[in-house]
Formats: sequence, structure tokens, C-alpha cells
Amino acid sequence: MPILCYEISGDSSPNERSTTGAEDGHIAAVLKGDHQEASAQLYSELAANRLAMFLGIPVLVGVPARRSIETTAMRFAALRVAEAGLDIYDFTDEDRGDGDDEDDEQDAIEVPAGVYRNTGHVRAMAALCAKYPLEAAAIAVFDLWIGNEDRALNFKGQIRGADRGVIFALDQGSSLLSCRSTVDSSIDLLSRQDYPSFHPFQKLVNARYCGAMVERVVSMPDWAIEAATVYQDTVGNVILPDQYQCYEALRERKTILGGLIDRVLF
Ligand SMILES: Nc1ncnc2c1ncn2[C@@H]1O[C@H](COP(=O)(O)OP(=O)(O)O)[C@@H](O)[C@H]1O
Ligand SMILES: [Mg+2]
Repeated sequence: MPILCYEISGDSSPNERSTTGAEDGHIAAVLKGDHQEASAQLYSELAANRLAMFLGIPVLVGVPARRSIETTAMRFAALRVAEAGLDIYDFTDEDRGDGDDEDDEQDAIEVPAGVYRNTGHVRAMAALCAKYPLEAAAIAVFDLWIGNEDRALNFKGQIRGADRGVIFALDQGSSLLSCRSTVDSSIDLLSRQDYPSFHPFQKLVNARYCGAMVERVVSMPDWAIEAATVYQDTVGNVILPDQYQCYEALRERKTILGGLIDRVLF
């Protein structure tokens, strides 16, 4: 698969101390913070991103960021994907309707019963999952583990053509301690075995690949989950005890993940 690249913006200039031609440059990003609809968005984006990096889930990379003036709040900088020149399918565009798509390749795709239809683009979604079965399984299993109900519209990929392209998920800002507007209601939901109850890739993923991904999550060591979820500091609105609750909830959710996947994805 081609490497997913991020977008260098503006001008770069020579780094004066570099002996190997390094440059000082800028990289474009989408900057996100806590919000009244998502009081723990910053924490959840950051923690989910670190979990995904450990597990090899194809989500775009994000980092904690702030301006050099120290008083400004921390943000989550989702590095902007260099999409220019890539034929990326836009799932956020208005769906012109199932079936009258001009794309023959997509028309050839069979859509099983029980697929998720709320955001349209069903054939495109089926085509994407057929082209990238491993990645789709990884994203779906990961979402069910971190309690992310908001995957629809938050992924992109190159569908057209026979060659492998890129697929990536973005925006985990409605997962973990931010799957509802407050931390407490999010923790309540995370403790439920029947949450989430749907996923945009349901009925479109491969059972063997999902099983392998469950194995990967279940064998993730506690120390790695802790490193991704517990910071020795408050992160945005999220205090340390809440971070530990998130860690515990994820450990607990490992034990219910297999059953959840069977019910939601198949
Ligand atoms: N790092 C990124 N690279 C490319 N596009 C992005 C990136 N981050 C966000 N976007 C685009 O911006 C939209 C809004 O960003 P998102 O993180 O989903 O915000 P929100 O949490 O408000 O839904 C996304 O649906 C996507 O189309
Ligand atoms: Mg979004």
C-alpha cells in the first residue's frame, strides 16, 4: 500500500544547525479541542490515536499541539493528509442515489442485506471494504473496542482503479471519554456490552480478518493501553482519575469484544 503522506505547507528554510540539509518547515493540520458537544474530545482523540498507532490501525496521525505562547490551550493536531493528486472518494458529498452511480466497478459490487444505509454511498462503502478488507476489519474492530459510534463520514479512501491505494480513518473525537457529551455518561456507555450497536462497515467485513484483529486487541499489553490512556497530567477537561477509568474500561471491553463483533458486524 502506498504510504499515507501528510501535507507540507508554506515555505521551508534551511535548518541552520543541520549538517545533512534538514529544513525547518510547516505541516498542515486540522486543530481540534474540547467542545460543549464533546467535553473530552482532545483527550479521546489523543488516546485513540496512540492506541491505533500501537495496533497498526490505519488512522491518520495526530499529535498534541500548542502555540509557542505558553498560555494557550493544548489542541489535537490531526495532520492533514496530502490528498492532492489522489483520487479519494468523498463520502461526505451528497449521495446521488444507490444504483445510478456512473461507476461500473462499483455497480458490479454486491451489497448484502443489513448494511448500514444512513449515510448513503452504500456501494462505494462496499467497494472500499472489498478493496481493503484487512484495513476495513481493523477499523471496524477498533471502533467497537473504543466505543466509536461516529465512523460514518469519518474515513476516506481511493476506490477507483485496480491498484492499491490509500484508506484511512480520521476523527476519533467521539470515542472513549467523549462518546457522549460528558465524561460520566461516556464511561457509563463504555461499560455496556451492547454498545455500539451498529457500524458503517457491518456486513461488509471479513470474519477471519476481524477475528485476527480481535486477537490483536486482546493481546495488547496493559502497559501499552496504560501508556496510551493515562497521562500524568490533566488533558483538556479530563482529570487523572477519569483517565484511569478509561484504561479500566478498555481492559474490560477486551473481554466482551468477540461477542460484540459477532453481533454487530455479522
Ligand atoms: N487530518 C485531516 N486530513 C484530511 N482531512 C481532514 C483531516 N481532519 C479532518 N479532515 C476533514 O475535515 C472534516 C472534519 O474534521 P473532523 O475531525 O471529522 O471534525 P468533527 O469532529 O467536527 O467531525 C472531516 O470529515 C474530513 O473531511
Ligand atoms: Mg467528523
